Amino acid sequence: MNARTDAPVDKDVPMDPDNPRPFDPSSPLVLNRRDLMVGTATAAVAGTLATPGEAGAAANAAVSAMTDLSVTINGVSHRIALDVRSSALDMLREVFGLTGSKKGCDHGQCGACTVHVDGRRVAACLTLAAQLEGRAVTTIEGIAPGDGPLHPMQQAFIDNDALQCGYCTPGQIMAAIACVNEGNATSSERIREYMSGNICRCGAYAGIVAAIQQAAPQMQEA
Ligand code: FES
Ligand code: FES
Repeated sequence: MNARTDAPVDKDVPMDPDNPRPFDPSSPLVLNRRDLMVGTATAAVAGTLATPGEAGAAANAAVSAMTDLSVTINGVSHRIALDVRSSALDMLREVFGLTGSKKGCDHGQCGACTVHVDGRRVAACLTLAAQLEGRAVTTIEGIAPGDGPLHPMQQAFIDNDALQCGYCTPGQIMAAIACVNEGNATSSERIREYMSGNICRCGAYAGIVAAIQQAAPQMQEA
């Protein structure tokens, strides 16, 4: 891991209010459709002029590049070099070993990878790591001290049997904390609506709603 911890953190990148995932379209790190088409065209031209091996290398160079990233994860600042195409989920799991965030669908459909970015829930599988420049990320590993008491939401999940296999649970807990912080834990109906992006194949939904209702007043008192 190429990690440095002395990087300055830029807090001024704007957040799109309609999109809970951080997105800075002006960032040179964002690979947009036009960039991809230019890269593909470059590779195609290279293919007409070069050997197959050279064409392959040109194609890879067109879409693959390393970038430096400054990001705070669970309160610790890091500066790393990584492939510009890496997702936030792959960075968390494979670079930092934070495997609490699960890869369920890798397509933004199950919520198993939910983390917080600057306090807002995002699907880490749909977020480019490069979009996290200057951001603060919190994962399930960072919501309570390792040698201290559990977060009230963690304890509530245990108290209400809100899990069976547990695979979805880290994402459920991160989404549940956000649901409370957003002010959307005011009724079971509203909780179900605002937790609808998190799928539980074991069907532990009744326990999850009960857990959120137990933890919400504790979190608000804290
Ligand atoms: S793994 Fe990200 S939403 Fe399913
Ligand atoms: S507890 Fe098994 S998928 Fe939710």
